[in-house]
Amino acid sequence: MKSIQAATYLVHFQEIAYQKLNDLIRKEAYSTIFILVDENTFTHCYPKFIPNLNTDRNIEVIEIESGEINKNIETCVGVWNAITELGGDRKSLLITLGGGVITDLGGFVASTFKRGIDFVNIPTTLLSMVDAAVGGKTGVDLGVLKNQIGLFSNPEMVLIDTAYLTTVTDREMKSGMAEIIKYGLTYDLRLFNHIKQHKGLNVSDLIFRSIEIKNEIVLKDPTEKNLRKVLNFGHTIGHAIESFYLESVDKENFTHGEAIAIGMVCESYISSIQLGFSSQQVSEIKETVLAIYGKTTLLKEDYTSIIDLLKHDKKNENGQVNFVLIKDFEKHQLDCKVSEELIVESLNFYNS
Ligand code: GLY
Repeated sequence: MKSIQAATYLVHFQEIAYQKLNDLIRKEAYSTIFILVDENTFTHCYPKFIPNLNTDRNIEVIEIESGEINKNIETCVGVWNAITELGGDRKSLLITLGGGVITDLGGFVASTFKRGIDFVNIPTTLLSMVDAAVGGKTGVDLGVLKNQIGLFSNPEMVLIDTAYLTTVTDREMKSGMAEIIKYGLTYDLRLFNHIKQHKGLNVSDLIFRSIEIKNEIVLKDPTEKNLRKVLNFGHTIGHAIESFYLESVDKENFTHGEAIAIGMVCESYISSIQLGFSSQQVSEIKETVLAIYGKTTLLKEDYTSIIDLLKHDKKNENGQVNFVLIKDFEKHQLDCKVSEELIVESLNFYNS
């Protein structure tokens, strides 16, 4: 599989990617190589990764606790301290080996340690392969507010090895699938159709095409002034739902993908009312989402809290909630203002 040229780095696939990583380490003569993992990736991915690393450099493993709940500044302080205590300097390299929490947080830690050290992303979940690890977004949550703190900063390279996907649960695979559905609805309908029809899914091809799409968008608008906002389709309501369940200790959390999938159903519904997107296609999207993720009921008594969280969305400007909507498959419209009534109606539509 050929490599994909991103802004300042390459996304490499499978075996060749390890060669490229070893070449990079040799060329840059890093002082120490830090590998950021969580307890799951340390157990299941690190043993697959380490035999591929061919270097005489000092290697140090830093482990953080898994889960979105730990994607915060306190965890960063722990990692900055660990790097410092282990003798990290400006010629250190940080390799992130994990899902979206590890790649987002690790990229942020690296980009801010001593004003920035190099980092390499090795995503191990479908979600991080098709989204988080590519595009230069790094950061952490502030309380339950997702990705409130962070910066755009590019890795030296991204290494995609689908062998890591054997280590993740079916639920995590479905979480990543939501981002692929998003690329399908907004950019390349073939991806949505593949998932909808369960057509001999070739995961490697879906990943490659998803990264190609994301990269094409990010190259045109790296800092989300315009076009990149399309990647937030389903995320305005989805993030609010995800945050709401994160802060509700008595309720089971949604994965990112599960929340985004509900968000896409709601935002497709809003698109139909506001932009004339076909209601038959909305039903198709809803059926596909329900078939993959099952049905959850959003309680009416929770709507106000969910809508309050929408008001913190990063895409908002001048106190207005900004949505990405679709006029048709593959045809988006940015910066759409949506009334609170219509948001409620869309949640009711999901529930119906
Ligand atoms: N996850 C959306 C983006 O990278 O812009």
